[in-house]
Amino acid sequence: MKVTIVGAGNVGASCAEYISIKKIASEVVLLDIKEGFAEGKALDLIQTSTTLGFDTLISGVTNDYGATANSSVVVITSGIPRKPGMTREELIGINAGIVKSVAKDILEYSPDAIIVVVSNPMDTMTYLALKSTGLPRNRIIGMGGALDSSRFKTYLSQAMKKPACDIDGMVIGGHGDTTMIPLIRLASYNGIPINQFLTEKNLNEVSAATMVGGATLTKLLGTSAWYAPGASVSYLVDSILSNQKKIIPCSVMLNGEYGLNDICIGVPVVIGSNGVEEIIDVNLNEIEKEKLQNSASAVANMNAALNTILN
Ligand code: NAI
Ligand code: 2OP
Repeated sequence: MKVTIVGAGNVGASCAEYISIKKIASEVVLLDIKEGFAEGKALDLIQTSTTLGFDTLISGVTNDYGATANSSVVVITSGIPRKPGMTREELIGINAGIVKSVAKDILEYSPDAIIVVVSNPMDTMTYLALKSTGLPRNRIIGMGGALDSSRFKTYLSQAMKKPACDIDGMVIGGHGDTTMIPLIRLASYNGIPINQFLTEKNLNEVSAATMVGGATLTKLLGTSAWYAPGASVSYLVDSILSNQKKIIPCSVMLNGEYGLNDICIGVPVVIGSNGVEEIIDVNLNEIEKEKLQNSASAVANMNAALNTILN
């Protein structure tokens, strides 16, 4: 199966690397507008195949959408990333134009593709991709919750000094420093509620660290992160291509679920070969419901800025 990644920058290249090394797809195409950049990333990656032992067909192209034809999944990472001190929301001006035109070009050559949106502000870019293409909601998936959840589980494991792979937990809501909602009440250590191991103070610290997880890395790196974002995308793509039906928090269009309408926001969904196979309606308590409503209001405000772009 063929996967195209638009944007061969930090996140795009990282996605290509994990998808190839883990043999998730048989073919990976990297596309970028910067002349020769995707070709260079592809060539460098191909030269790891003999030492790392994979035979994925990898190519890189400069804005040649013909080369992306018949992709099963397309990942959109094109656009500018955060710089220290910037919010994801500040990227909307530049990234909206890019995401809209990329989604259109992709569908010309891969009319049946499932599109994974990564560019920020991701929930609003997912909404834009959906509205501008008119695709059914199962085929446009925003990646943010998978990454935020992996940060949540990592911070929990560090606080508990227990292996991260034994920790389960989920972050829902918007993919923003103030909009994401780590679901502490439902987190567990091998099925045992996490609050048996950590104090309320510890849990609040983990939650706060999770919410600014992206900003922390941006400050350290001078640009936003790529290993965990790339790995989270590859996890999602794997569940689509192998029809794994994993539950992954993703930004999807809600039509009444969680009492929300006409908004793309992070909720747990079953991901399989049709993209979004099912939206899981978690039984939230009153505080969690209120947080989700507030998060949705913030995302809806950001979406309102798209009016000029969509019209
Ligand atoms: P980057 O700057 O390293 O790469 C972006 C690439 O997009 C560049 O190579 C650029 O030439 C290319 N590009 C720009 N316009 C294009 C177009 N019209 N067509 C094709 N390629 C185009 O940035 P990075 O770090 O890879 O981040 C990419 C995006 O992903 C940013 O918006 C960032 O905020 C977002 N992001 C989202 C995450 C999430 O969880 N949703 C996590 C990490 C980053
Ligand atoms: C991240 O969370 C900035 O969305 C990007 O790393």
